[in-house]
Amino acid sequence: THAQNTATLQADKPQQVISKHIYGHFAEHLGRCIYGGMYVGDTSRVPNTAGVRNDVIAALKKLQIPNLRWPGGCFADTYHWKDGIGPKAQRPKIVNVWWGGVTEDNSFGTHDFLNMCELLGTEPYLAGNVGSGTVQELADWVQYVNFGGESPMSKLRVENGRKEPWKVKFWGVGNEAWGCGGNFTPEYYSDTYRKYATFMSDWTNTGGLFRIASGSNSADYNWTEVLMKNIPNNMLSGLALHHYSVIKWDKKGPSTTFTEEQYFQTMKSALFMDSLITKHVRIMDKYDPKKNVALVVDEWGGWYDVEPGTNPGFLFQQNTMRDAMIAGATLNIFHNHSDRVRMANLAQVVNVLQSVILTEGDKMLLTPTYHVLDMYKVHQDATLLPLNIKTNNYTFGNESLPAVSASASKDKAGVTHVSLTNVHATQAQEVTINIEGGQYKTVTGTVLSSAKLQDYNTFAQPNKIQPAAFKGASLKGNTLTVKMQPFSVVVLELK
Ligand code: AHR
Repeated sequence: THAQNTATLQADKPQQVISKHIYGHFAEHLGRCIYGGMYVGDTSRVPNTAGVRNDVIAALKKLQIPNLRWPGGCFADTYHWKDGIGPKAQRPKIVNVWWGGVTEDNSFGTHDFLNMCELLGTEPYLAGNVGSGTVQELADWVQYVNFGGESPMSKLRVENGRKEPWKVKFWGVGNEAWGCGGNFTPEYYSDTYRKYATFMSDWTNTGGLFRIASGSNSADYNWTEVLMKNIPNNMLSGLALHHYSVIKWDKKGPSTTFTEEQYFQTMKSALFMDSLITKHVRIMDKYDPKKNVALVVDEWGGWYDVEPGTNPGFLFQQNTMRDAMIAGATLNIFHNHSDRVRMANLAQVVNVLQSVILTEGDKMLLTPTYHVLDMYKVHQDATLLPLNIKTNNYTFGNESLPAVSASASKDKAGVTHVSLTNVHATQAQEVTINIEGGQYKTVTGTVLSSAKLQDYNTFAQPNKIQPAAFKGASLKGNTLTVKMQPFSVVVLELK
């Protein structure tokens, strides 16, 4: 039996475009994300293009990742970009102080990253060093990658083998300035931001840099208040926000052998994103009622204990159906807030935290999270349609969460997509969607589900969890009925 839920889809009330940049990713110099996961070097036996794994390039191209953030994270505020240019043998070796104290040989630097973005067909998002760098260093980086004319930095770039500038639009001005980025107060960071932003000139002549201020740690609303008050809107394109789905920072629990209670607590943290965004947006609206400044959720995802036997500084974790639930529900939240949330980055793309790809030697697998993003990519740059849902509760102990989350959009070809996530661990859900202001003739769909919440893909069984054709939807007149299994994600196509 299925629990009943009702919803209304307003097919004739198109809202804003859901920016494709909500589907961004994040690659830090952390553990095996860059080294081993994406970059193996051009002498590796793993098939590669200019040192970047061919299997990873193909998988990420299929996902149509719109942007990629680099080189951190906490690493960004320790990174001196000039260490990563010029002949590789001459690059200094440094210690990665945040992540495992390992040697960083700087063999993957600015050229390697920006050329990789070209291979992936994705837009780079560079995170500048504010914590331990200088204004001049960051201004030089902008000039180095963006200036086409003659200048000291563009000359250096040409000497290093790249004639045309890359024209990088997205720039982070520091990372987690309240923590690893320098333990700033919001007042001091606002002033610092203004100074850095002033000297990060637009060398691209392509409409200006998109400068993103380091944002709040989850529910630190004062951080948002002070930044919005102190930084003029015209100096700020985006304000960041970081929120991880974590049970407790000192007791995160295992990635695969979790209990239902741990699952529930993770989902509670994930679904908190909704009220978190609502409250930050309320503050932003006060200072920027026209919504010129984007809210950029540039770190999000599930965070658990590392896999037993792996380096605790490498943040390597497996990815189960729980992660699929986080991804499906969070993306629905982003869509429904896409008038303000116009960019986001899942942490992190390969082998770190909630990854879409895991690698081991020359092997690669796609996680359940990958499949959710692949199913949902139809929403990229599509127009949001209002979809209001009245859903059952998923109750555990004496706490409750909404069981089903949903969002809808219409793409450029006029096709409507509805994505639904049932996070309930044990109860199937039937959703009756009443369609207003439109008529559809057919419904087809794709589903991601598995026998157990704790299921995941392994290198031995990489396709245990993968999308399948969905048979649970039927359309009669203006009534669309969707029957969802417990912990499943569905994307429907209406024509
Ligand atoms: O994504 C891992 C780390 O989490 C990032 O380096 C940092 O910004 C955040 O604390």
